[in-house]
Amino acid sequence: MQVWNDYLAANKQRFLDELLDLLRIPSVSADSKYKADVARCAEAVKASLLAAGCDTAEICPTAGHPIVYGEKIIDPSLPTVLVYGHYDVQPADPLELWHSGPFEPVIKDEKIYARGACDDKGQVFMHVKALEVMVKTNTLPCNIKMMVEGEEEVGSVNLGKFLEDNKQKLKADIVLVSDTSMISMEHPSLETGLRGLAYMEVEVVGPNRDLHSGVYGGAVANPINILAKMIASLHDENNHITIPGFYDKVQELSEADRKALNAAPFDLEEYKKELGIDDVRGEKGYTTLERTGIRPTLDVNGIWGGYTGEGAKTVLPSKANAKISMRLVPNQGAKEIAALFQKHFESIAPAGVKVTVTEHHGGEPVVTPTDSIAYKAAAKAIQTAFGKDPIPTRGGGSIPIIALFEKTLGLKTVLLGFGLDNDNIHSPNEKYDIFNYFKGIETIPHFHKNLAEMSKN
Ligand code: BES
Ligand code: MN
Ligand code: MN
Repeated sequence: MQVWNDYLAANKQRFLDELLDLLRIPSVSADSKYKADVARCAEAVKASLLAAGCDTAEICPTAGHPIVYGEKIIDPSLPTVLVYGHYDVQPADPLELWHSGPFEPVIKDEKIYARGACDDKGQVFMHVKALEVMVKTNTLPCNIKMMVEGEEEVGSVNLGKFLEDNKQKLKADIVLVSDTSMISMEHPSLETGLRGLAYMEVEVVGPNRDLHSGVYGGAVANPINILAKMIASLHDENNHITIPGFYDKVQELSEADRKALNAAPFDLEEYKKELGIDDVRGEKGYTTLERTGIRPTLDVNGIWGGYTGEGAKTVLPSKANAKISMRLVPNQGAKEIAALFQKHFESIAPAGVKVTVTEHHGGEPVVTPTDSIAYKAAAKAIQTAFGKDPIPTRGGGSIPIIALFEKTLGLKTVLLGFGLDNDNIHSPNEKYDIFNYFKGIETIPHFHKNLAEMSKN
């Protein structure tokens, strides 16, 4: 629509500057040192919602970081879209690998560099600005509710209760989320699924103190040696996971569905080059797109123990630790897989060490429908903004709350993400292309308009 394009064109610089302001707030949810900054970021999001034209906006306290909620209701007989996103970000470290300060956004080669630029402040802000475009041009086609949380990166642990307690307030027809990625701007795509997550921490304890590795080495179990061996045994020679029962409920795709998934444009050589690796590695019998989209995985996220300081210290350490996560696919349950892991990991512990397993936050996998009005509204919006039909893909990441939207509120979700795999989310030098930011602001109003029109029939 011309009025939208005109409004966007007239306000481009301000839309960019306001996002940069939001990116300056270090809203790191995992680190209590930033608690006040997280709260300040919530205030900034609330102010932006009011400025965009919400009738009401509020800060909803939780046992953890607050949720920001705002709404613009124009006519109860029109469809209502619940937009979800998160204003919290991952920790920025290792700081020394950033080319500029993670919370001092800079623009280089038409890209915004800052922690949260893509995940998820940049994408949340597209919705704030799209709302402004529609409200200020008097063209809002449906009701909009915005829920922006501050704990996604720490597992959305308090959002489930918020959904339970606010079913009426959150009543809607569909959830719309921009917190995923596209294949590329030349190949716009829509993610139609997310993996679940089970996240474990393990500790292996041997002798009651660190020992001289000459005096005791060879006679006493070394917890790091043992842990390494236990971890190595979790995959077999085909890179299948060896935990008994792990694959029991995994939904296998039909040959036709696998073919469709692999038809998405993907350049293996480019992929390897991008990552600086000479080969890919994963579960035998599956392609890279399948390995990240429809297959479950197990990865060590961190491992520590013993002496890691300068020089060499001869020591047989008393204990070793690791953080291990599993990405899950339909119909694996996060709790069930965590229990299988625990049972198996304890069972493979040899005599001479004590093993403890604890569970961190997790989330269930989801698949979103492609035959719904809402999906069609999103596909048509992309067709309008990009001049191409979107390719449906399966995302490898996790957004724990999506499964609860369905379970608690009975709502399906559309994943209308504009990130790119090379945006360095969770890594140093996170970026978001300015093009993607404005393309999102351009696309989103079409989604709402299409949804309103298609819902009439
Ligand atoms: N936005 C990401 C998830 C994502 C990224 C989905 C790219 C699809 C494509 C989200 O903020 C995230 O990082 N989620 C975490 C899980 C959470 C429990 C910490 C993840 O996937 O590791
Ligand atoms: Mn995110
Ligand atoms: Mn994230």
